Amino acid sequence: MARLQDRVAIVTGGASGLGAATVRRFVAEGARVTIADIDAGRGAELARELGSAAHFVRCDHTERAQCRAAVEATLARFGALDILHNNAGGPFAGPVESADDATLARVIGVNLVGAFRMTQEALPALRAAGAQRAGGAVILFTSSLQGIKARPNYTVYTASKHGIVGLVKGLALELAPANIRVNAICPTVTETPMLPRFLPGMAGDMEEARRRFRASIPLGRMPEPVDTGNAAVFLASDEARMITGIALPLDGGQMAG
Ligand SMILES: NC(=O)c1ccc[n+]([C@@H]2O[C@H](COP(=O)([O-])OP(=O)(O)OC[C@H]3O[C@@H](n4cnc5c(N)ncnc54)[C@H](O)[C@@H]3O)[C@@H](O)[C@H]2O)c1
Repeated sequence: MARLQDRVAIVTGGASGLGAATVRRFVAEGARVTIADIDAGRGAELARELGSAAHFVRCDHTERAQCRAAVEATLARFGALDILHNNAGGPFAGPVESADDATLARVIGVNLVGAFRMTQEALPALRAAGAQRAGGAVILFTSSLQGIKARPNYTVYTASKHGIVGLVKGLALELAPANIRVNAICPTVTETPMLPRFLPGMAGDMEEARRRFRASIPLGRMPEPVDTGNAAVFLASDEARMITGIALPLDGGQMAG
């Protein structure tokens, strides 16, 4: 049997990059998925490609009313919500002094507060799923390797992604009695449309930056978006039924050294 058969998921930021790869893997494993994203063009296109197992809902997860509407649309379309993957986020690279108030509000808002709001709005449905299924319900977050370590000139991003790991630990303890598991995936730098906006802080030349990254990874290769999707499938499935409150590095061994 497929590993997520008959499960219903919302993936925020599901129109692109790591989110789109996760949506594809969830559907391949039998789930029905709401793609919740601000990018209506790409989101609707992915939903069309995947057919009746997926639908697109335009949702800015920093807006509480839009989070609630995405949950309601999911319940109306698929009848339940078992898995929430809070994946939407964005980069910021630059010295800490260069982050003005608007930048701070945007980066912390998109990377942390939005995921917090979406989780709050999804909780009634997730609690119902936790009570109904022996395997319970699941909340996942795409944090980052910078959710568990720092890098100069990425302090605002690092703070937002460490915040996600704090959220995961608190929620894991708070929601365990409701049979809801909560975990974070922490990928190192991965080839997605976000990458060119992320790497310039490390090197002027993109190819040189990629080469330096590969050299810093013990396995000698950068992850692909499907690696995040595969980790999400495992953590969302009953195979991970004893795993909650972790921040899983997806880093080819970088944290080992
Ligand atoms: N690519 C990497 O190297 C990398 C590494 C570690 C963690 N991450 C994290 O993974 C997540 C996905 O990044 P990606 O690389 O796939 O980027 P991406 O730019 O390819 O995709 C991000 C998606 O999020 C959507 N989005 C942005 N703001 C949103 C909002 N307010 N509400 C709803 N959707 C919104 C965008 O429209 C886009 O579809 C982010 O949280 C990012 O911080 C990325």
